[in-house]
Amino acid sequence: MPTADKIADLRNEVEGLSAASPTAQDLMKSMVKLLHDRMLKYNWVGFYMLEPGAQPPVLVLGAFEGAMTPHTRIPLNQGICGAAASSGRTVVVDDVSKDPRYLACSLETKSEIVVPVFVRGKVAGELDIDSHFPAAFTPEDQELVQFCAAVVGKKLENSRS
Ligand code: SME
Repeated sequence: MPTADKIADLRNEVEGLSAASPTAQDLMKSMVKLLHDRMLKYNWVGFYMLEPGAQPPVLVLGAFEGAMTPHTRIPLNQGICGAAASSGRTVVVDDVSKDPRYLACSLETKSEIVVPVFVRGKVAGELDIDSHFPAAFTPEDQELVQFCAAVVGKKLENSRS
């Protein structure tokens, strides 16, 4: 479990990245790198964003760190990613082999968290993290990932106003 100090440090660093990033895209790139480099159990970290205007809606792979994934476009009725985006809720899966919604990205993945990114109250995308460790995402991790997603949402709001 990450210590409270480590989480506090990361939150500060994420805020620093946001202040230093000219665009939301820059922020997402540096954020996935920070989380992937610093959190031992975060083995794949990436953003999926809703394609503007797409009907039916589709999530498109954005900035990520980790192995390439075959899932570069995910409809909202598919995967854990689709479930989080369509419900607007964080989804934590402790054992992906037991979740029928799971779309496999790597054979090594054991657990996953997906947190929606909101822009003016609407889902604009999500932050997806896979782990090679079972049940890697504690409530503390969940809070950290939700914080990161909220910082990106704010950046997007500011850049679209
Ligand atoms: N596992 C996800 C697909 C994306 S990859 O993990 C990168 C899902 O079930 O939606």
